[in-house]
Amino acid sequence: MTTDRISEHYDRLAASYDEHWTYDPEYVRAFSRAITGALRLHPADAIADIGCGTGLYTRQLAEDLQPLRPILCVDPVPAMLDRVPASPALRPVLASAEDVASGHVSLPDPGPLDAVVVKESLHHVSDRAGTLRGLAGLLSDHGRLLVVMLPRTIPHPLFAAAHERFEQLQPDPDDVRDLVAAAGLRASVSYRTFHVAIDRERYVRMLESRYMSVLDEFSADELAEGIAQFRHAYREEPVLRFDDHFAFVTGWVRPAS
Ligand SMILES: C[S@@+](CC[C@H](N)C(=O)[O-])C[C@H]1O[C@@H](n2cnc3c(N)ncnc32)[C@H](O)[C@@H]1O
Repeated sequence: MTTDRISEHYDRLAASYDEHWTYDPEYVRAFSRAITGALRLHPADAIADIGCGTGLYTRQLAEDLQPLRPILCVDPVPAMLDRVPASPALRPVLASAEDVASGHVSLPDPGPLDAVVVKESLHHVSDRAGTLRGLAGLLSDHGRLLVVMLPRTIPHPLFAAAHERFEQLQPDPDDVRDLVAAAGLRASVSYRTFHVAIDRERYVRMLESRYMSVLDEFSADELAEGIAQFRHAYREEPVLRFDDHFAFVTGWVRPAS
């Protein structure tokens, strides 16, 4: 997907993003706890959420952590960033991961970062190696990086062609772990599972709105055909239940020897 198409996608989705991606409030709370645990976040940490979108998860992180300085909410799409609520705990920054990693856009707080979250946005970055290297370079001597991403095979109730296309486009978490290691960090990958229960008709509306960027790969007719296949496959299930698996790729700054 080109940068223009990514911007158009999120521009269109911004107003309904939180409704489509929340699933339910406990999902967001559980996710925030998982991020806090994986990064061992502390209120005194300088934190940036790169590709934060509307701040759906960043606000929960801020509520849970009560950070002593605002979490930097970084996203290149103004319509998404405009949805980050005004709060002393959140500071929006209009920039891409590449902008921040390369120093093309300076962060408002010039000090090093203790924790960087990149949740479900790395697949939009074309130079992943260079960007991860640049982000790793912004970390303090006890800095940590977390890339949250879907694996290449997902159990979401998408139609077959969407699954195939997703598998072609999605980076492999093991490759991302290798890039994090190549950026000089102590890297590992582990998996977290979040249970989802969602009304079938609500999921149809999510598919119609192309809530995942992979759905933008299909024409209106192809999407309509996919939704018809979905309706047929799940005709007996008014509520869809699935386990949403996420890869958590972490990178820790190595202690100075
Ligand atoms: C699937 S959303 C995830 C948003 C948020 N992290 C969340 O989990 O709710 C992907 C986000 O990545 C942003 N994005 C797109 N290209 C990006 C880039 N090059 N660098 C950083 N973020 C990018 C989009 O604007 C969008 O807000």
